Amino acid sequence: MDRQLLERPPTHGPSLLPTGRAIGPGCGPPIRETNVRAAALADAPIIMAIEALAFVNHFDRFSGRQIRRLIANPRARVCVAINDREAILGWCVSLIRTHERCRSGRVYSVAVCPEYAGLGIGRAMLRWMVNQLELSGVARVYLEVRTDNAPAIGLYHSEGFHIVCRLPNYYGDSDGLRMRRILSD
Ligand SMILES: CC(C)(COP(=O)(O)OP(=O)(O)OC[C@H]1O[C@@H](n2cnc3c(N)ncnc32)[C@H](O)[C@@H]1OP(=O)(O)O)[C@@H](O)C(=O)NCCC(=O)NCCS
Repeated sequence: MDRQLLERPPTHGPSLLPTGRAIGPGCGPPIRETNVRAAALADAPIIMAIEALAFVNHFDRFSGRQIRRLIANPRARVCVAINDREAILGWCVSLIRTHERCRSGRVYSVAVCPEYAGLGIGRAMLRWMVNQLELSGVARVYLEVRTDNAPAIGLYHSEGFHIVCRLPNYYGDSDGLRMRRILSD
């Protein structure tokens, strides 16, 4: 994630779905099938809850206001992973930037409810996202990740992202890696 573009989010983290059902260890719906769809504004509270569960450090989380603004931003692509009961299990967001006729995309966050980690949900969302960016004419996709975030780095590597450079102190308390996937020349 690119923290430089973001204002500091407040501490937050609702743990309930709008229906009142809790999300979190042992509380979520059983996963039988995962689909990915574009996010809607009504998804923002659940996305906030997933951010709170997925990121230990609250500086890494998006606030509700940021999430709502991203969903409404035509340059952003935001998706959620849902199961067959339409419960949201994760989300992913990217922004498209056009510079001198070259269009690039930046993945700002991928987060899966910890209870459902390791089930292919992160990969499904990242694939959806890269596909959307490609359909939007994006030639290169960038992202930043903490150097110690092995699951995320593993996911990005396995989806064709390569390290471009190391970003010292990018996260304040740790270095970052910038990764890139080239979609077209
Ligand atoms: C990173 C994250 C999105 C991965 O989502 P996920 O649904 O758990 O990952 P998937 O099941 O789709 O796994 C895809 C690949 O990621 C890698 N991966 C996933 N978990 C891993 C782990 N614990 N250790 C190492 N690699 C891992 C593997 O390459 C895996 O492929 P494989 O199953 O064929 O080995 C998820 O762990 C998460 O939400 N983490 C907290 C938030 C976060 O750090 N987001 C990234 C911010 S830059």
